[in-house]
Amino acid sequence: MESVIKKAIIIGASSGMGMEVAKILLDEGWCLGVAARREDRLQSLKQLAPDRVEVATIDVTAENAADRLRSLIDRLGGMDLFFYASGIGKQNRTLEPDIELNTVNTNAMGFTRMIGEAYRYFAERGEGHIAAITSIAGTKGLGPAPSYSATKALQNVYLQALEQQANARNLKIRFTDIRPGFVDTDLLKGDFRYPMMLKPEKVARSIVSAINSKRHIKVIDWRYAILTALWRRIPRPIWRHFRL
Ligand SMILES: NC(=O)c1ccc[n+]([C@@H]2O[C@H](COP(=O)([O-])OP(=O)(O)OC[C@H]3O[C@@H](n4cnc5c(N)ncnc54)[C@H](OP(=O)(O)O)[C@@H]3O)[C@@H](O)[C@H]2O)c1
Repeated sequence: MESVIKKAIIIGASSGMGMEVAKILLDEGWCLGVAARREDRLQSLKQLAPDRVEVATIDVTAENAADRLRSLIDRLGGMDLFFYASGIGKQNRTLEPDIELNTVNTNAMGFTRMIGEAYRYFAERGEGHIAAITSIAGTKGLGPAPSYSATKALQNVYLQALEQQANARNLKIRFTDIRPGFVDTDLLKGDFRYPMMLKPEKVARSIVSAINSKRHIKVIDWRYAILTALWRRIPRPIWRHFRL
């Protein structure tokens, strides 16, 4: 029987988990449309399989980002999986306004813009799969990273809302909300030492497995699943006195 080649778009494929997932999907035979702002990094992915990779520079904070996504889908000849791996995050214990607002612009505005366009594409097509890396940081408001934790909570709730809307409209759109703990990528580069750091290559394998098995929510890894389950049970009057 002839096998059907699957097509995925990855936003945020230029580094970290997005790039590692791109490499695994290429090994599995997928055709990819890869996007981010740094084109040289995306071109290095294309060199791995020139006939199966399309490249687009997309800044998710730009107003034309949704149009650029549509033209990338056209160039790829369609899309079965939309994988969203873009995001920024910084600790901001002194509440610098630029950090707070840039994070909202990228993780909330950019996310809503791009996930929305993918959803509308799949709604027109009648089916598809949207997977996004959010974070365990959306579980509770985190004092060291206010806008990061708040935008990650927005992402968690937004995916939940779209999933309900898709079901109400009888659209066959699957959603996978991927929530890793600390991963050793550029996002965490700096002088702070994070505990329980995960390797991006290993996390990427868990992400692909969660996507292939069409999980609704995947916390990576099991230690963070336990930690977030405990966090959820901490009452607000106690949480507000935690020192993270
Ligand atoms: N590292 C962690 O501990 C951790 C834990 C949980 C969740 N996450 C989440 O995982 C996702 C991926 O992060 P990562 O850890 O793999 O870090 P990363 O290596 O810094 O990757 C971030 C990706 O987002 C892209 N990006 C950032 N701003 C963008 C913009 N305006 N337009 C388009 N693309 C943009 C970057 O590409 P360009 O710079 O080339 O545009 C890059 O490809 C993020 O959403 C992050 O919040 C990370």
